[in-house]
Amino acid sequence: MQSSAFTHIATAQLAWAPRGGGAAATRRVPPSSAVAAPLRHRQITHSMPPEKVEVFKSLESWASKSVLPLLKPVDKCWQPTEFLPDPTRPISDFMDEVRVLRDRASELPDEYFVVLVGDMITEDALPTYQTMINTLDGVRDETGASPNPWASWTRGWTAEENRHGDLLRTYLYLSGRVDMLMIERTVQYLIGAGMDPGTENNPYLGFVYTSFQERATAVSHGNTARLAKEGGDPVLAQICGTIAADEKRHENAYARIVEKLLEVDPNGAMIAVGDMMRKKITMPAHLMYDGQDPHLFEHFSAVAQRMGVYTADDYADILEFLIGRWRLEKLDGLKGDGRQAQEFVCGLPQRIRKLQERADERAKKMKPKGQRFSWIFNREVVV
Ligand SMILES: [Fe+2]
Ligand SMILES: [Fe+2]
Repeated sequence: MQSSAFTHIATAQLAWAPRGGGAAATRRVPPSSAVAAPLRHRQITHSMPPEKVEVFKSLESWASKSVLPLLKPVDKCWQPTEFLPDPTRPISDFMDEVRVLRDRASELPDEYFVVLVGDMITEDALPTYQTMINTLDGVRDETGASPNPWASWTRGWTAEENRHGDLLRTYLYLSGRVDMLMIERTVQYLIGAGMDPGTENNPYLGFVYTSFQERATAVSHGNTARLAKEGGDPVLAQICGTIAADEKRHENAYARIVEKLLEVDPNGAMIAVGDMMRKKITMPAHLMYDGQDPHLFEHFSAVAQRMGVYTADDYADILEFLIGRWRLEKLDGLKGDGRQAQEFVCGLPQRIRKLQERADERAKKMKPKGQRFSWIFNREVVV
């Protein structure tokens, strides 16, 4: 792979723009309306050969036995209310709980809130992700209430995910630290803009994407949990940690699906992993916009990278983990194109780390710069 191509992607599309260089290095045209966001590549549709739909049909009973149990029964699931001040208590007790929450939140720095808001906005664009999964041939929910196990999974997964944005949003609202109006506008813009992960209606690509993405969100929420704990807010740490645990369970489900595809169709599945990794995994909120900053996603990503919430190293770690989990290095029975994909993917983590080392070296020589975020009343943080 050309290093220049990778550097471009690293700065423009991943949630880990190299420190000091990423945001300034790319210029994306701001969306003039909620539906006019720019697209990063030619959109390809229905790339899975129609006969491969049968693969997913033949795996339905396997999915019922091996994927659906990874959803939790509703009465065993946590709900946002359990982590928030209790409005059914007498008003003065409720106000005390809110006051305690705000005291704890007051210890955390602005840059922490930029990252937490970005994560919350990403969660809140959930309608986009359910739509994306329902673009996938052979596994989509054909009726909206289909009893098919693939469709049941998608609805159950969405229902679990729906708690994440709810909880973070309410916490942020009560904290008083952020500009909810700008956050709400950003969510509306983002849902209007959608996302463009390059999955081509192809469930092979779709499930590689979701495996990677769920692990990435687990890493990110895990790190916001750690920082909240260090910053003196154990309740917020528990909130982020609880969400991270859901993401891990979801990652396990999607990675299990890809594992199965590698078993029943090693060549096809290996090519899919190679294809997604060549395109790079685009973060789901890559089209975020607040009506002001045309480079909002890059700026948010730069803060996440700088704070160690989601970094280039994390990207390489996730890929390395999936290579190990899917035993890609040892995969045999591949044809020429499958072997090529295998070689590319297995060498990629090392190449990413090298490129990032160079980007870090360059960034060290640059002066840190301030960036204003509307989400925190246009105060400035270092990117
Ligand atoms: Fe989530
Ligand atoms: Fe998730």
